[in-house]
Amino acid sequence: MSEIIQPHGGHASEGYGRPKEQGADFSHGIALYLEKVSVWFDSFRALNDLSLYIEQGELRCIIGPNGAGKTTLMDVITGKTRPTEGSAFFGQTYDLAKMSTEQIAESGIGRKFQKPTVFENFTVLENLLLAAPKDKRVTKSFFSKLDAEVQIALDQTLEQIRLKELVKKPAGLLSHGQKQWLEIGMLLMQRPKLILLDEPVAGMTDAETERTAELCLELKKEHTLVVVEHDMSFIDTISEKVTVLAQGAILAEGTLAEVQANEDVIEKYLGR
Ligand SMILES: Nc1ncnc2c1ncn2[C@@H]1O[C@H](COP(=O)(O)OP(=O)(O)OP(=O)(O)O)[C@@H](O)[C@H]1O
Ligand SMILES: [Mg+2]
Repeated sequence: MSEIIQPHGGHASEGYGRPKEQGADFSHGIALYLEKVSVWFDSFRALNDLSLYIEQGELRCIIGPNGAGKTTLMDVITGKTRPTEGSAFFGQTYDLAKMSTEQIAESGIGRKFQKPTVFENFTVLENLLLAAPKDKRVTKSFFSKLDAEVQIALDQTLEQIRLKELVKKPAGLLSHGQKQWLEIGMLLMQRPKLILLDEPVAGMTDAETERTAELCLELKKEHTLVVVEHDMSFIDTISEKVTVLAQGAILAEGTLAEVQANEDVIEKYLGR
């Protein structure tokens, strides 16, 4: 009972929930293992014996009706909700069920929530710098002397989220889409290996949605991504493998065309 059995038969050697210094171990090519995960809220089962494996470098899309458990799944991965049953591992060694939300973030998992949570009174630049890892932030001379690594991350992030011209603008004055990109930028400042995006294009204009699809495809070159969305044309643009969730369980997996042709999916999701 005291020993943690790892995926592929390894054993946890480090202390309770402590992330290893060298970072996540993706040596088996899998970034995320969820095995037989169930989450109960009182007598309601939000996730039902769910097993999901995300390969390193994958861009996995998760779709499904309201209340299917998509956000709960992200809550389990980020430690906000603990699995009632089952196990969740990041790479070979990080037992997510035993780590705090902070430890999980530090281990390389970044998450964007359904609603943007940028600091409205701070500028784009300030928001990004506040998101840099704590040990890399220069607090005394916040702007005058940035850690070299932070400077590189900042330049690259501003390029990716295309907000370079708006660095001095208070985040509260950005459009909804720009706020979403800023929040993705704040994630990128942490240099995460795995990025979770919960409904990134909700409320966006068509042009913003298109730009977000480009951004996701760009991020895929360097990160593993899990994207939850209801917008099917967006999913169609970015998706490789799609997982359909309904009532806390996987209904189907495959390309978007494959899952859209699946009888169960038509009945329980598309044909609503
Ligand atoms: N903390 C909680 N306590 C009780 N029930 C909860 C809690 N969090 C989620 N639920 C319930 O679990 C179910 C799954 O919710 P979840 O937010 O994961 O769905 P979702 O797939 O993200 O839906 P949407 O597409 O609407 O965002 C819902 O019925 C929800 O009401
Ligand atoms: Mg949700």
